Amino acid sequence: MITNDFWLERWQTGRIGFHLEGVNPKLMDYWPVLTKQSKVLVPLCGKTNDMIWLAEQGYQVTGVELSSLAIIEFIGDNDLTYETLQQDSLKIHTINELPIRLIEGDYFDFHEHDFDACYDRAAMVAMPQNLREKYVQHTLQRLSQKAFLLLITLQYQGGKKGPPFSVAEEEVIQLWGSDIKKLASENLMETNPDYRDGSYTSFEESVWHIDQN
Ligand SMILES: C[S@@+](CC[C@H](N)C(=O)[O-])C[C@H]1O[C@@H](n2cnc3c(N)ncnc32)[C@H](O)[C@@H]1O
Repeated sequence: MITNDFWLERWQTGRIGFHLEGVNPKLMDYWPVLTKQSKVLVPLCGKTNDMIWLAEQGYQVTGVELSSLAIIEFIGDNDLTYETLQQDSLKIHTINELPIRLIEGDYFDFHEHDFDACYDRAAMVAMPQNLREKYVQHTLQRLSQKAFLLLITLQYQGGKKGPPFSVAEEEVIQLWGSDIKKLASENLMETNPDYRDGSYTSFEESVWHIDQN
């Protein structure tokens, strides 16, 4: 079973193969130009550098992450300083050098709303089947009515069961609603040798958005 302890242990033992060193090219390719200062939510953010990129575009970034280690590593790796405020079960870390707040705690305890946009890479697909609908509903409730969403999902056959979990197209549309549109798909078995170890028979990464403007 995938519990919070599972993720805390992954960080403690350094098993964070999901972390990318650079900025995700799909974020740079598919993120639109939004009004400066737009409030961007990054659920289950880990220590992704994508938050730095979003902040450098002029957005107010809020990442939510369970693991204190992920947050410490993000701050350390990027040579940042911060101030912390405790708010109920959550710790709010405000970065001094960039418009980034890191919320440490369980995403389901995070109730701020009216975000203008959301970036989900390896978040929905990190959620096991029994929590996926709750995750999507919780995320939609954090967003303003016309908010922009960029979502990256995986769909594969064979290999390990996950996380990351394989999420079918029909499930993406059923959970996020009919406004979600697929922008692109990449067959990772063709473009990345890591996926050609024989355990998978297919492995596709898809980029989706909800853009009502
Ligand atoms: C697969 S990683 C993806 C991290 C990041 N989005 C990235 O692209 O590198 C999923 C992250 O979600 C965090 N996480 C899992 N469940 C969570 C929860 N309920 N609340 C907050 N963070 C959670 C884990 O600690 C982990 O860092």
